[in-house]
Amino acid sequence: MRSDHIYDDSTFETFFANPPEGIEMEALDRSRIPRHISCIMDGNGRWATARGMNRGEGHKAGIVSLREIITACVRLGVEVLSAYAFSTENWKRPAAEVNLLMHLFAQTFVDELPLLKRENVRVVFLGDLSALPKRTRDVFEYGLAETSGHTGMVLALAVNYGARAELARAARLLAQDALAGKIDPCDIDEDAVASRLYTAGLPDPELIIRTSGELRLSNYLLWQAAYSEFYITRTYWPDFNRWELIDAILAFQGRDRRFGGVHNREVS
Ligand code: IPE
Ligand code: IPE
Ligand code: MG
Repeated sequence: MRSDHIYDDSTFETFFANPPEGIEMEALDRSRIPRHISCIMDGNGRWATARGMNRGEGHKAGIVSLREIITACVRLGVEVLSAYAFSTENWKRPAAEVNLLMHLFAQTFVDELPLLKRENVRVVFLGDLSALPKRTRDVFEYGLAETSGHTGMVLALAVNYGARAELARAARLLAQDALAGKIDPCDIDEDAVASRLYTAGLPDPELIIRTSGELRLSNYLLWQAAYSEFYITRTYWPDFNRWELIDAILAFQGRDRRFGGVHNREVS
């Protein structure tokens, strides 16, 4: 399953050459690509079941999609791509599936790290890695250190991530700092909270894509998604590709983002 998809000699033009019918590449405004795109990669299991395969095959196919979307985002000049890979609630799944996922995470990361390095991608993790099996954690921490000096796209992988756990952790960190006299409780503002989230230093996602048609956040980026635009597609994650990503960005570019203000066209 190893592939050269992440690092290839493609340019924006060659990577996005020959769009299928219905995808209007000319309509894409390359000066208005979302800075941070986030994917809730859902539907791997149903994709596999629909093909008479076991769920694990769906997860393997999902990795191939992620590779394609990483390359696509690098070519588009996206600053941050985040991807929800495993939630704090996903531990409820059968042990065999959890174990397979943890193994796949480690193996894929080992396989793809050289390619991520050649693409100058900086990897960060959102979530509590301490609960992961040692090998997965070690591989992740190695990748984190190996790419920490990279200046290209940030790839934020949400693994053992839950937004409520993240917010509770931020509250804990703030309380500790207050007890230590480092911060006055009266000074706790939005920046103080944001800087204690796993996403500290990253822009909020402008576009959140969820595959497989589910209309929910499933405990993902509750704080950061305050003003995100959502794109929901019925496509299962293993079938999600560069063209549907373009479709999502085109939809984003057609939205009127008000941030609580007035309609853009009313501002003179
Ligand atoms: C998303 O696909 C991947 C993970 C949560 C790890 P699912 O495994 O949730 O697939 P469905 O939703 O059951 O089809
Ligand atoms: C959300 O998908 C988590 C990930 C994609 C990793 P789930 O499949 O776990 O979400 P629910 O259970 O349908 O809400
Ligand atoms: Mg699911």
